[in-house]
Amino acid sequence: MEASLLRKVDVLIIGAGAAGMMAAAEAGKRGRRVLLVDHAKKAGDKIRISGGGRCNFTNINTSFKQFLSENPRFAISPLKRFSAQDFIGRVRARGIAFHEKTLGQLFCDESAQQIIDMLLDDLHEAGVELRLRTQVHGVEKTENGFLIDLGDERVQAEKLVVATGGKSIPKMGATSLGYDLAQQFGLRVVETRPALVPLTFDQSTLAPIKALAGVALDPVQVSHGKTRFDEALLFTHRGLSGPAILQISSFWREGDQVKVNMLPGQDVFGQLRAARQENGKRAVQTVLSQWLPKRVVEFVMDEHKIAGNLADMSDKKLKTLADSVARWALKPTGSEGYRTAEVTLGGVATDELDNRTMESKKVPGLYFAGEVVDMTGWLGGYNFQWAWSSAWVAGQAV
Ligand code: FDA
Repeated sequence: MEASLLRKVDVLIIGAGAAGMMAAAEAGKRGRRVLLVDHAKKAGDKIRISGGGRCNFTNINTSFKQFLSENPRFAISPLKRFSAQDFIGRVRARGIAFHEKTLGQLFCDESAQQIIDMLLDDLHEAGVELRLRTQVHGVEKTENGFLIDLGDERVQAEKLVVATGGKSIPKMGATSLGYDLAQQFGLRVVETRPALVPLTFDQSTLAPIKALAGVALDPVQVSHGKTRFDEALLFTHRGLSGPAILQISSFWREGDQVKVNMLPGQDVFGQLRAARQENGKRAVQTVLSQWLPKRVVEFVMDEHKIAGNLADMSDKKLKTLADSVARWALKPTGSEGYRTAEVTLGGVATDELDNRTMESKKVPGLYFAGEVVDMTGWLGGYNFQWAWSSAWVAGQAV
């Protein structure tokens, strides 16, 4: 390649998503010459579609406890140095109206685009050059940094930040470049798998679920071992979805069972017995329909071939019925995979990185931030907060 096509920058950042934009703006504010590249047509596409278009940009309760990783404590320092409150401060200063939906989850009142515009303006003010529709053809380590081949030009960068996100939603441009680069430079990558994803079932389990497609139960308690989430569940044509299922999917592994309590906090057996004593002539359906949608009651009764009046039911039968509502045990066969997963579990191993800088311990000058790192949040704004925090830290160091 000709020498004229070689140019120099202080910092090259791959990936103009949540983490890449934050890291670039922070480095730019420090006076660093920053080039931010992405193969997509627009920056921050996942922010745009997040939170149903309103972006659940953080969670006021964020701590390392809402993260899955080989070492969740790795997140403590970045989350402290650039906290949920710090990001909220920026959103407020920008005049973006927001609200708490539930469980500390903050959403824009209007549109996720407001968060993207804020980040784009930050990039502009910090003098960052943003190059979209740009492929990374290769990265080489040089004596004084990295040589990055962008096809029409080669860039010599003192520091390289990899902020390429996870593998979720390949249709939107997700690639494994970040993991591949980590491996190229000898960094360990924790096995990846789709997370925050709907669960799927075999034909016999799916048939009655399918019939309930569109019905929601809010809240249910879904559990896997000792992990539980009290959130909404949604029946779909493909299986089960909704926040409670997405949450548990990050913990579920092939062959495991999950349990659903459709009426958390309620003593269903006790209440059925009390109802029988009060008026045994009432149909069981009528009583259950006080608490659950009619179609779900029919599904439960059919599954257990239970019908009739309360007076006809022995304690044993009432117990079976109560358990089918409060301890519905299911064995998923899989998940919808990266096609619909909101995040990717696993990634660049935290013991390869320094959490004060997000720099590789083995390869000085190489940084990773955001979802590409083995740090996966629960549903509820935690993943964006990790992107902001880890990228902010990298932005101060590069
Ligand atoms: P992100 O994926 O945002 O950015 C990576 C960038 O790298 C992309 O712009 C991509 O184009 C680019 N890239 C990838 N490969 C490349 C290559 N080979 N060459 C060049 N560029 C490349 N989280 C949350 O906290 N609250 C929420 O409301 C939601 N909602 C939500 C909805 C949906 C549908 C999804 C799929 C995900 C969410 N998330 C979420 C998760 C959240 O979007 C995610 O964790 C962050 O976007 C991660 O930020 P990153 O910057 O690390 O990756």
